Amino acid sequence: MKSPNFLDLIKQQRESSTKESWKGSFVEYLDVIQKDPSLVRLSARRLSDSIESRGVGKMQESDPRLKKLFDSDPIRTYDYFSSDFFGHERVIAKIMRFLKAASMKGEESRQVLLLMGPVGSGKSALADALKKALELHADPVYQLEGCPVREEPLHLLPRSLRSQFEDLLGVHIEGDLCPVCRYKLLNEFGGEYEKFPVVRSGFSQRGRRGVAVVPPMDANSQDVSALIGSEDISKLDKYSESDPRVLNLDGAFNVGNRGVVEFVEIFKNEIEFLHTIITATQEKSVPTPGKNGMLYFDGVIISHCNESEWNRFKSEHTNEAILDRVVKIEVPYILELTQEMKIYEKMIKKSDFKFHLAPHTIKVAAMFSVMSRLKASQKVDLITKMKIYDGQDVIEKGKVRKIDIKDLREEARHEGMDGISTRFITKAIDNALTDSDKGFITPMRVVDALIKQVKEQVVDEEKKKQYLEILQKVIREEYLKILESEIAKAFVTAYEEQAQSLFDNYLDNAEAWTTRQKMKDRVTNEEREPDEKFMKAIEEQIGITGSSRDGFRADVTSFMFAKVRRGGKVDYKSYEPLKEAIESYLVASVKDMARIVTKSKSRDNEQQKKYSEMVMTLVNDYSYTPESAEEIITFASNNLWRDS
Ligand SMILES: Nc1ncnc2c1ncn2[C@@H]1O[C@H](COP(=O)(O)OP(=O)(O)OP(=O)(O)O)[C@@H](O)[C@H]1O
Ligand SMILES: [Mg+2]
Repeated sequence: MKSPNFLDLIKQQRESSTKESWKGSFVEYLDVIQKDPSLVRLSARRLSDSIESRGVGKMQESDPRLKKLFDSDPIRTYDYFSSDFFGHERVIAKIMRFLKAASMKGEESRQVLLLMGPVGSGKSALADALKKALELHADPVYQLEGCPVREEPLHLLPRSLRSQFEDLLGVHIEGDLCPVCRYKLLNEFGGEYEKFPVVRSGFSQRGRRGVAVVPPMDANSQDVSALIGSEDISKLDKYSESDPRVLNLDGAFNVGNRGVVEFVEIFKNEIEFLHTIITATQEKSVPTPGKNGMLYFDGVIISHCNESEWNRFKSEHTNEAILDRVVKIEVPYILELTQEMKIYEKMIKKSDFKFHLAPHTIKVAAMFSVMSRLKASQKVDLITKMKIYDGQDVIEKGKVRKIDIKDLREEARHEGMDGISTRFITKAIDNALTDSDKGFITPMRVVDALIKQVKEQVVDEEKKKQYLEILQKVIREEYLKILESEIAKAFVTAYEEQAQSLFDNYLDNAEAWTTRQKMKDRVTNEEREPDEKFMKAIEEQIGITGSSRDGFRADVTSFMFAKVRRGGKVDYKSYEPLKEAIESYLVASVKDMARIVTKSKSRDNEQQKKYSEMVMTLVNDYSYTPESAEEIITFASNNLWRDS
């Protein structure tokens, strides 16, 4: 490889950043915005534009989640969030609606955005993403040179000229000159504001440009100067208290002007500390230190807290003034298994662990967190509810069980606000990885790590019991079921083809039976009666017996017809109940052999060959490594097929 030319790289970077920079007088700035009035924007607008610039879409009609989980309401999706956030579409749509309304100068432009939810639900991550959007994708701002609050140059225009300039430029002008720039205007430029220099700049949290963060402060250390800046005491003997030269405008509302001010865990602060928020939102101004009056402020205020803090704060009626200025958006835990899994996949990808995860490892972990968050239902058991919330088809008596997800949600309002957090799970996965000296982990190791962690860390006895039951019983059984069918499938040679041929065969039979015709043999063209015995053998796999057969055969036939008529392709996976029947027929057909071969301590040559073939299939088709395959086979043979 050619070694990089470091000097070139450095020069290129510098060149591109000087190309981005701009400096001119106020008059030159007016020319610039006349050409592109959209450069004049308030903070909420700039923020929502920066997010939308990455792409806005709608959940696709073809996305099965839309119909099953979003009630066919095509929710807006934002590409900016889509690679890092999973299952938070509704929350993100609400945040964006807030920003859009605020950019239209609706009431929201005078409100604080509050993200409220349980620990580890993604509140801080969402707030970070909003700040990053400004840093990475916002159009730069033009500001008065040297202004501590990076203010909009149009503030220079005297009131008497503003409406005329608004018409000329097609922009809206809002806000007054800050005391520092006003002093400079009078003393350096003799009031000739057309000469005032204007520069262009971007956003940076570390550079304290347009992104400010207020961490929670305890009663002793909190000081309003963190929000509004302070007076430089050393200058007070030189200048009077009303002289702007004593001002240090470096508070959060100064730094975050034109961008974002984030209050981390907002209600951990004393209420007095938060009073500036009221004027900042309602009057769009904040006090200056000392005697310099009020200072115009335009910024998006973002905050977050958990539910108990919110409830405590809400119950104090003295807090009404602030409550009235809050738009609360709930950030619940994810209740969709597939999306929850993506969170952990993302985290593992980001970490330095280079381990092999046996199939279903992330799944069992996510099953635990999701089930811990669900409320018990009168209508279905917990794991069924989890599957329905995930948009999976649940088969019962040969039919896809029709349970309206809306009814389940209705039954359990306020769901997703407690349970096991994402962090709890990632810690357990980390522990399982650290404890493993083999370079891989399997689902049972994660379940063991979770059990250990629940025993150590969950204090509430009732919760502890409930969680252990989920882990030791519900998840264990479900995992064994998955494993049983996976191992058996690995025994079936050319599984897919066999399943497809069973499907074709069944369909021919069921169709002939339903239309009361003879069937034609696909190979010999001979006519014969439908094969009743074969159909029954498939059907009984999903508990269809007696008189319900007629209905099932008719259902299958008409389903397939309808699908083909609409131009769809049919294969053995097309109709969920039939797919399940065929799979379990195949699995049952090799069960005995699977049991004998996996269980026996000493295999004869034939058995050993079969065993090795199965391990190879698990490795090649199911993403195991030879070691992890051996481990799960041992686990399966110790725990499955006990009674036979
Ligand atoms: N829906 C989600 N999609 C992607 N990542 C998520 C999601 N929910 C949580 N996370 C991840 O979980 C981790 C914890 O989230 P975060 O720190 O934002 O939680 P929080 O709500 O601020 O919790 P706390 O109340 O404890 O501060 C982060 O790494 C975050 O990226
Ligand atoms: Mg947080």
